[in-house]
Amino acid sequence: MNKNIALIYGDCSSPEIVTQAVRVLDKIAAKHGHTFTYTRAYMGGEAIDKFGDPLPASELEKCKASDSVLLGAIGGPKWEGMPGDKRPEKGLLRLRAGMGLYANNRPAKIWPQLAAASPLKAEIVAKGIDFIVVRELIGGVYFGEHKTYEENGEKVAVDTMPYAEHEIERIGRIGFETAMKRRKKLTCVDKANVLDTSRLWRAVMHRLAAEYPEVEYSEMFVDNCAMQICKNPAQFDVIVTENMFGDILSDEASEITGSIGMVPSSSLGESSCGLYEPIHGSAPDIAGQDVVNPIACILSAAMMLRYSFDMPAEADEIEAAVNAVLDKGLRTADMMAEGCTQVGCTAMGDAILAEL
Ligand code: IPM
Ligand code: MN
Repeated sequence: MNKNIALIYGDCSSPEIVTQAVRVLDKIAAKHGHTFTYTRAYMGGEAIDKFGDPLPASELEKCKASDSVLLGAIGGPKWEGMPGDKRPEKGLLRLRAGMGLYANNRPAKIWPQLAAASPLKAEIVAKGIDFIVVRELIGGVYFGEHKTYEENGEKVAVDTMPYAEHEIERIGRIGFETAMKRRKKLTCVDKANVLDTSRLWRAVMHRLAAEYPEVEYSEMFVDNCAMQICKNPAQFDVIVTENMFGDILSDEASEITGSIGMVPSSSLGESSCGLYEPIHGSAPDIAGQDVVNPIACILSAAMMLRYSFDMPAEADEIEAAVNAVLDKGLRTADMMAEGCTQVGCTAMGDAILAEL
């Protein structure tokens, strides 16, 4: 198959991980007779430097015209002082919204080799960690009205959190469909004791639950959920939640699996053209040192093959290669443990290529 992939190299240590993911994609393409062509698109800090805009229209168009987008991570101290709409993060938000990617899928699954790296007690980890956070990605407080104004001689800032029923329904349905393909448990996470948006979420979710009688549906407040994720993560199969709660809970969920540097994500909308990115940030503190963990980005590329290109065998091979290098005890600094061998970013890429 021929596929055109838009590549966003990203900021700080991100180009290092995207480089490794591209090597893996090329190897898989050669092995299976596919042709992957790449179109470089600029977003985030590098787009600010190049165009003075975190996502110029030309770059969004390149992404929309591609078969899918692979991204590392964006942002860094260099752009921190910039006004809200000129920050790198704004480019990412505009990319997600511009491509209509409302469904963000963030798996939290423990790799047995990394069980000791989990900050949780061994007996909690032993019960198993294998759940998915389905995060609504283009609504809520990220996209509501923001303003800062003067009142009584001081500044006041307001961020609003709107959700329309159709926005809840389409992500809720993804939650139920994802659960149907797994252990058939869905937890809607919200703050319905305080927020109107959460009460509307529950009303819509109740309507959907009637369509999925096989799914064991429950609801949980977000503060309790944050606690339950570290107390008893085995209870979760699929969590569906609004944008900001999903942002926060998915960082927590990934860290209990051993390293945030291992967790990929997919973002999809109505078409098969998705955005694939690690859930971690651009790790400015270790940029340029060839020590960053490329695995989340490599696994994001595998997810692209699985979910957007319908190449499950190819995705399986990449995941198996990652599994094999972990079995051999190779670790980047973020997940280093006693008795293992520490390797850098390129060496980790080399090792995964060697398995393919
Ligand atoms: C993420 C990131 C982004 C988000 C930032 C960079 C805007 O934290 O992908 O989780 O909050 O969505
Ligand atoms: Mn985040």
